[in-house]
This record gives sequence, structure tokens and C-alpha cells, in this order.
Amino acid sequence: MADLQAILNDIHAELSPRLGEGRVADYIPHLAHIDPQKFGMSLITVDGAVHRVGDSDEPFSIQSISKVFTLTMALGKHGETTWNRVGREPSGSAFNSIVQLENEGGKPRNPFINAGAIAVSDLVLAGHTPREAIGEIVRFVRYLADDDTIVIDPAVARSEEATGFRNAALANFMRAFGKLTHPVDHVLGVYFHHCALAMTCTQLAHAGLFLAAGGTNPLTGLSVVSSQRARRINALMLTCGHYDGSGEFAYRVGLPGKSGVGGGILAVAPGKAAVTVWSPGLNHNGNSLLGSLALEMLAARTGWSVFGPA
Ligand code: DON
Repeated sequence: MADLQAILNDIHAELSPRLGEGRVADYIPHLAHIDPQKFGMSLITVDGAVHRVGDSDEPFSIQSISKVFTLTMALGKHGETTWNRVGREPSGSAFNSIVQLENEGGKPRNPFINAGAIAVSDLVLAGHTPREAIGEIVRFVRYLADDDTIVIDPAVARSEEATGFRNAALANFMRAFGKLTHPVDHVLGVYFHHCALAMTCTQLAHAGLFLAAGGTNPLTGLSVVSSQRARRINALMLTCGHYDGSGEFAYRVGLPGKSGVGGGILAVAPGKAAVTVWSPGLNHNGNSLLGSLALEMLAARTGWSVFGPA
């Protein structure tokens, strides 16, 4: 096997002159102040080897990466009926777009665009108060990462709650179509809080490892989902995980991946490893600019693309 630590060190060194490129998300005021020079990467293989470089152990706002975990929870709670509420097709639109919702009767295209993740939050809320649902999400992520120190950053959640007018529009629109069963403010409360989970690259790679290992966390031996479900979540990450940049990410990197506007990307190399990269500067699709490049370099150097060897 390639020397994975040397590969991470080389990627970090090669990207160092470019740190700060891209645009930090500032529509969530609390995220506008993040240092754009940050860069971290953690890679955990299915046999438990951990490789890290840069700011890999500094917590950052995972934002939309959390949508992978809430989808996993919703599928656990509601099984295939989840798909009555949200589709499985790429949107080809921005993550916060409202345009398709009207034509498509308030059913979001997929669980990773904001509208879809809000519908998933509604599913996770079933039978719970918002506080309980948020607690359940935190417990689930701690279980996945085998790390009880993971918390939500309440300042980020509040910052988004105060300014999330587009998400409020999406939620109200879906509610008007009868597609949300709980009050809009409850659903948005759950959504904003799971987006505000703060995690390090290493914690996120741990949490995503079950997707690289057929649904079971190979480090704890705990089963999370069936291998079929893990494969299907990976398929959705590949086709929808980077919004209208998903095709480009598949073309360049060739791995299932989920991005967040905090600048993180969780990528899955099935049978091999989970990898997280964090670099806050975003490209025009709202995906980490250098993070995508780092994963492109990693995939080229390991030959891990799901579409074939290098
Ligand atoms: O709802 C929002 O806009 C954010 N909480 C999450 C968006 C996001 O991370 C998009 N990812 N690239």
C-alpha cells in the first residue's frame, strides 16, 4: 500500500502556497471570521490506521456534512418511506435553491440540498420535541465517532437562526405543500443545530468510517447500517453531495463525498478509508476549493477512485 502519511504530507506542502484561496462563507455571520489559512486533513483506513496533517484536530463547523448523519438516522427510523418525502436525484441547482420545489410539489430532489435536509429534519423529529431530536442527533454522531466530546456550537446555530431567511422560505414552502408535519420553527431549530455541530477532521473521518466498511464501524465493531444501505448512502453522496458541483467532483476525485460551507469535505473510499479535509475558502458552488483539490490529489496518488485505478 502507498505511504499514506507521506501522501498527506506532500499534499499539504504542495497546497501551502495557496492557503487562503476561495471565499469563506459569510452569509452565516458567525462563519465569516474563520481564518481562511486553516487546512487540515485526516485519513482513517478500515483497519484503523490514522493519518493526519495540518489543523486536523481543530474543530470546525461541519454544516451540510451533518446531512449524511441525519439521513442515516431518518432511514433507520422510517426505512424506505423516507423516499416518499425526499427524492434521490441530483438537483443541478445551488444548495439553497427554491426553484424546483414549486414544480415538484414541495418534494425536494435529494436529502443533501437544504430543502431535502430540512425534510429529513422533520422525519428525525417524529415522536420527539426539538430538544430531544437534537440530543438524539448529537448522541448518534458521538456513537459513530466513538467520541463523547463532540458538541454543537450554539453561537453558530443562533447566528444561522437569526439570518436563515432562505431556509425559512424553503421550510414554509414545503409546509404549504403539506410536506412538513411539524411546526416550521421546530424543524428549522433541529436543522440549524445539526448544521452547527463542531468536529475535527479526525472525528469526522471516524464518524464516516462505517460508510467505507460496509455499514459497520471497523474500529468499534458496532453495526450502523446494512451494507446495502451504506452503498446507497455512498451513491447519494457521489451524485448529490456537492450540489451543482457533484459532476465535477465525481469527474476529478471519483469518490462519494459530502461538503459543507464550513469548508469541510468528508469523502469515502469504499473498502479502504474515510478521509476528511478542511479548508474554509469555498468555490462558486459553496464547496471547499482547496479541499476538493486535496482530494483530487489524494485520489490520483492512491488510485482510490471508484471508477478505476489511476
Ligand atoms: O443551511 C445552510 O445554508 C447551511 N447550514 C448549510 C449549507 C451547506 O453547508 C452547503 N454546503 N456546501
